[in-house]
Amino acid sequence: MKTLIFNGSPRPDGNTSFLIDELRSVLEGETVVVNAYTANVAPCIDCRECWDSYGCIIHDGMDEIYGHIFAADAIVIASPVYNCELTPPLLGIFSRLQSFYAALRFLGVRLIPKGRFGAVVLTGGGDGSSAHAESSARMFLRHMGAPPQALVTSLKTDSLLACEDDRAIEDIRALGRTINEIGKTKQ
Ligand SMILES: Cc1cc2nc3c(=O)[nH]c(=O)nc-3n(C[C@H](O)[C@H](O)[C@H](O)COP(=O)(O)O)c2cc1C
Repeated sequence: MKTLIFNGSPRPDGNTSFLIDELRSVLEGETVVVNAYTANVAPCIDCRECWDSYGCIIHDGMDEIYGHIFAADAIVIASPVYNCELTPPLLGIFSRLQSFYAALRFLGVRLIPKGRFGAVVLTGGGDGSSAHAESSARMFLRHMGAPPQALVTSLKTDSLLACEDDRAIEDIRALGRTINEIGKTKQ
């Protein structure tokens, strides 16, 4: 079982990273974490080359990430809420999923395997809705062939850090156990 986790936070010791560490402490199998702020990925520039041939002509950190996406059995998008959205570098990375979309729409080819497990993890200070961020994360998971089946939140971190949020800790550990169970059915 290979679990790919996108970390949208710039803070290595922040709330999102804490929940990811909790998840990893439960997860069995292989785990890959992509840190959006250090991944060296340029955003899509709508050059439309992917309308005529498969894949993206920009070669940067996304080359490795595409490989992780293809190989993953489970994909988790974990991010702080910034201005009611996922963080900007994460949105930049996911803009590069456009090549999957274009392959399907213009070339009639589904590049991404279906049937993987998807989950969303969001942290927020408590001022502003997380609905847009959740909706975006759900859409990107569908683009990656991993429809969202779980949501874990810690949305009052200004007053209750994720590491103090017992419900979020319980939920993230439960998510880890769910992914492990799926892994057992794949063996
Ligand atoms: C630029 C910026 C925008 C933010 N926008 C929101 C927001 O819209 N809603 C919210 O609840 N929290 C917002 N926050 C607070 C963060 O989501 C919150 O502190 C989060 O727990 C940080 O996660 P981290 O510690 O993993 O980096 C914002 C923080 C920053 C820096």
